[in-house]
Amino acid sequence: MTSSFAGKRIVVGVTGSIAAFKVAGWVSALAKDEALVDVVMTAAAQHFVTPLTFSALTGRAVYSDMFEAEREGVISHIGLAREADCILIAPATAHTIARLAHGLADDLLSTTVLAARVPVIVCPAMNVKMFEHAATRHNIERLTSLGYRVIDPDSGLMACGEEGAGRLPEWEQVAEYVLRGITRPDLAGQRVLVTAGPTREPYDPARFISNRSSGKMGYALARTAFRRGAEVTLISGPTALQAPAGVEMVRVSTALEMYEAVMERCDHASIIVKAAAVADFRFARQHRQKVKKDSSELTMELVLNPDILKELGKRDDRERWLLIGFAAESQNIEQEGRKKLVNKHLDLIAVNDISSDGAGFAVDTNQITLIDSQRSVPLIHTSKEKTADLLWDHVVANKLLKPAV
Ligand code: C5P
Repeated sequence: MTSSFAGKRIVVGVTGSIAAFKVAGWVSALAKDEALVDVVMTAAAQHFVTPLTFSALTGRAVYSDMFEAEREGVISHIGLAREADCILIAPATAHTIARLAHGLADDLLSTTVLAARVPVIVCPAMNVKMFEHAATRHNIERLTSLGYRVIDPDSGLMACGEEGAGRLPEWEQVAEYVLRGITRPDLAGQRVLVTAGPTREPYDPARFISNRSSGKMGYALARTAFRRGAEVTLISGPTALQAPAGVEMVRVSTALEMYEAVMERCDHASIIVKAAAVADFRFARQHRQKVKKDSSELTMELVLNPDILKELGKRDDRERWLLIGFAAESQNIEQEGRKKLVNKHLDLIAVNDISSDGAGFAVDTNQITLIDSQRSVPLIHTSKEKTADLLWDHVVANKLLKPAV
């Protein structure tokens, strides 16, 4: 499958921090994903990594001297700025952050940033005291108010031997911000609430009932909505998945906890996608102590959980949301899907054909049919991430969105 980075021009600004060597790995990942990477190095960066390292990884020229570039007539700061789809500055030192915050244009990188009108992502990496200094805090706030996306550094043991915030985050996290930078923001202004994963209904401290949902479909919907410009909250039952970058994450365990979490946050949402496999039942009684096998309690009584989606569909303020449900069916896909669309007052339902191989629970691919009041559209059998993008494509193309705010 073609990578989302393929053919995109990404300027990577490398500045003088020891973390520069890590960015060689990031540049290598981008180049493997067929991005056209133009590395611009500050003078200090070249003390840590040589331009040759980056040009060997990208197969392209590496830029540093503003006037040399002009003289050779290859590509100037204006050219770099004009061609770029996104600028990533990593590692960003306190000094570069200060220069950008004040609009200085004293080298090729700062000049390119000023001349560009594309998303700029800044990854600070420095000693914890430098990062926490009021001057740096102030400059970062300023960068944010200028529209730059500043990514919080990770905490941990640093190259200087001190511990705290200032380490570069993992590439997988940063890549999501770059993807948001290069993706058409057709969900900009939308506030998306996604639920994902199974719920877990405890019987006693050791036992519970749950289901085989992995959360992969819901996480893919949250990730792709973020890339397309939305503000995203993900309410997730227990899964083994990492929180998607840039997404507000709310972890719950039981159906009742998920119900509370959704009801607390739904006022803020413009789109609600219920991809979670909420347990239909919970135990009427939960035991505080582990039930012994020789106890007399061998009959378990179940009670119904609230249907979160149905409750949302019944509310007076129902029209404020684009309400999207999921359903797992093994036969009469269209008929069963349409029944739920109507019963739960949904705008769209994505019906999972769990009878087909490589679809539904715990696998990376899916086969769904999208059903709204007008149409029924079977999607191709593909990855959950691609399926998520196709669902958003359907929503945008058929003008199902509520007006952006
Ligand atoms: O009726 P059924 O469980 O098949 O409907 C599935 C849809 O309803 C999913 O979108 C699921 O997240 C949602 N649901 C819910 N609360 C429940 C059960 C299902 O919101 N208790």
